[in-house]
Amino acid sequence: MTLIQPTRSINARRWNTTAAMKMAAVFVLAALATHANAGLEEGRVKAQACIACHGADGNSVIPTIPSIAGQPRQFLVTALYMFREGRRKSDVMAPFAAKLSNTDLNDLAAYFNAQKMTPPTGQASEETVAKGRAITAANNCVACHTATLVGQQQMPRLAGQHKPYLLEQLKAFKAGTRGDLDGTMTSAAQGLVVEELDMLADYLSTLQVP
Ligand code: HEC
Ligand code: HEC
Repeated sequence: MTLIQPTRSINARRWNTTAAMKMAAVFVLAALATHANAGLEEGRVKAQACIACHGADGNSVIPTIPSIAGQPRQFLVTALYMFREGRRKSDVMAPFAAKLSNTDLNDLAAYFNAQKMTPPTGQASEETVAKGRAITAANNCVACHTATLVGQQQMPRLAGQHKPYLLEQLKAFKAGTRGDLDGTMTSAAQGLVVEELDMLADYLSTLQVP
């Protein structure tokens, strides 16, 4: 932003205004930063209850247990809420979610969202990649889960998630046995034919997070 400033006095006044605006911006940023980190430390402590299954930093080494590192915050809160309220069934997860308060949900989400996901090591075949791209475009997966499938808001990251876990979830959505918040994912899965599910899980699990 370059402005031509004709006189010294206007120049000085403008500097003062700009300086004041910069100061205000610093305070706003500081407030945002505090907000973004809210619950992070509390979450780190509370996460001790989760690491046996989900890994110390949310990167699970058990293929049937999802990695939760770097998942969108809103998705993490929603998923925990769904387990706690019994709207998403899992005999394994339910007892851990049952004890959590709303503050716990937010703190745990802040912590796991801030962890870095371990890049996947597998590589899908060229044919799987081409088909996976076509299916995720044709079925609007990319519209909700984003173009790079890293997720946003209440939509989870699919890129780099464990294949057996993804396959299980896709089958469950198609069968209508995985509860989801508003039914949008259950509808999205209805368009998929069974043969596509394994290929999709393979494709998604090997996608790198940019
Ligand atoms: C005994 C193992 C175990 C423990 C401990 C555990 N989880 Fe889980 N968690 C699972 C399994 C298994 C699933 C997948 C459930 C399913 O099939 O839908 C899961 C799913 C989740 C999901 C959904 C992820 C997704 O991509 O849909 C979140 C979020 C989650 N767990 C968070 C936590 C948190 C936070 C804790 C600690 C308070 C915790 N879990 C403790 C086993 C565990
Ligand atoms: C209209 C938006 C929308 C579309 C389109 C959509 N999804 Fe989803 N998806 C969601 C939401 C929301 C969730 C979280 C559901 C919940 O747990 O409440 C989800 C969850 C998932 C999960 C579970 C992942 C996990 O970690 O638990 C998988 C797998 C998935 N979607 C794959 C796909 C695929 C593949 C497509 C395309 C065929 C697709 N989605 C299309 C909104 C969408």
